[in-house]
Amino acid sequence: MTSFRDNLFEGKTAFVAGGTSGINLGIAKRFAQLGAKVAVAGRDPDKAQRAAAEIGHDAIGLSGDVRDYDAIRGVMETVAGKLGAMDFVISGAAGNFLAPVLGMSANAFRTVVDIDLNGTFNVFRGCHDLLSRPGASLIAITAGQAVNASALQAHACAAKAGINQLIRVLALEWGPDVRINGISPGPIADTEGMKRLAPDAATREAHYARIAMKRWGRIEEVAESAVFLCSPAAAYITGTILDCDGGSQIGDASRGDPARGMA
Ligand code: HXC
Ligand code: NAP
Repeated sequence: MTSFRDNLFEGKTAFVAGGTSGINLGIAKRFAQLGAKVAVAGRDPDKAQRAAAEIGHDAIGLSGDVRDYDAIRGVMETVAGKLGAMDFVISGAAGNFLAPVLGMSANAFRTVVDIDLNGTFNVFRGCHDLLSRPGASLIAITAGQAVNASALQAHACAAKAGINQLIRVLALEWGPDVRINGISPGPIADTEGMKRLAPDAATREAHYARIAMKRWGRIEEVAESAVFLCSPAAAYITGTILDCDGGSQIGDASRGDPARGMA
């Protein structure tokens, strides 16, 4: 189910970097359902093929590492060659694991920053001359950790904070032809990210109480936010970060529980 009209994206082309699983695959599926020609990419070619088959609508699955500028540029040249100039580019590839700074080698820190932040630079820098301009819409997938520090997440916090600023700088430099925004998902159910960050039931239960909406989000809810940002309804929105997080960032909702008093 979607809140948007059928064929909203008819005649449009969308590329989703990191679109072969999870939240980004959900975005790719929704865009295809709304009529867009869609391509997704990740490192694993078989996973990319499976994702394309799952999306249907003649979607294309390609492999390329966002850390390698030439590789991801080549992927996007292929997409533009096969599907035409790109109207929408979503940069969502990410890596993450829980580790304290003292349990993290320099390479471990660099690896996450390289995928998330440098990868987003590479995708956006590499797509500019392949975009349908004016009117193109770019989205980077960020996270609340960009704003709220989180122990065991130095790499992801630093990388996502960098992404937020990159979004704003690009909006200044590339407006009015291209809009650049971010989506900051909260904890989203049935994703690799939450398997890694909240692996057991007790952690999950404690987490729900702290969220204003008292639940984790759904992949489809993030996809709807992406549709909105690429739709004409968002024509005057650029350089913003849309929190699709059930209120996760506004504070700890468990503190308003009468059973806990002011605790
Ligand atoms: C400490 C670790 C580690 C861990 C890896 N490393 N896991 N260090 N604790 N649990 C170290 C390795 O030892 C190595 O350092 C360095 O990180 C690179 O590891 P590689 O395995 O060689 O890297 P690579 O094959 O490139 O894989 C990247 C990866 C992997 C990030 C490590 O987990 C991955 O491919 N992830 C993609 C899927 C994913 O993470 N999805 C969730 C995204 S969710 P040394 O020094 O030994 O060489 C998400 C949540 C958002 O982003 C919310 C928070 C922002
Ligand atoms: P996911 O399923 O692990 O998706 C990650 C995607 O990126 C996969 O398609 C993966 O495919 C690809 N990828 C990883 N490293 C890559 C690289 N170096 N080059 C190219 N592609 C690469 O993750 P998810 O949990 O759905 O998260 C998706 C996005 O949402 C991420 O940006 C994440 O930070 C953000 N986010 C997630 C949550 C959450 O609750 N899950 C919360 C906040 C923000 P390959 O492995 O084949 O490369």
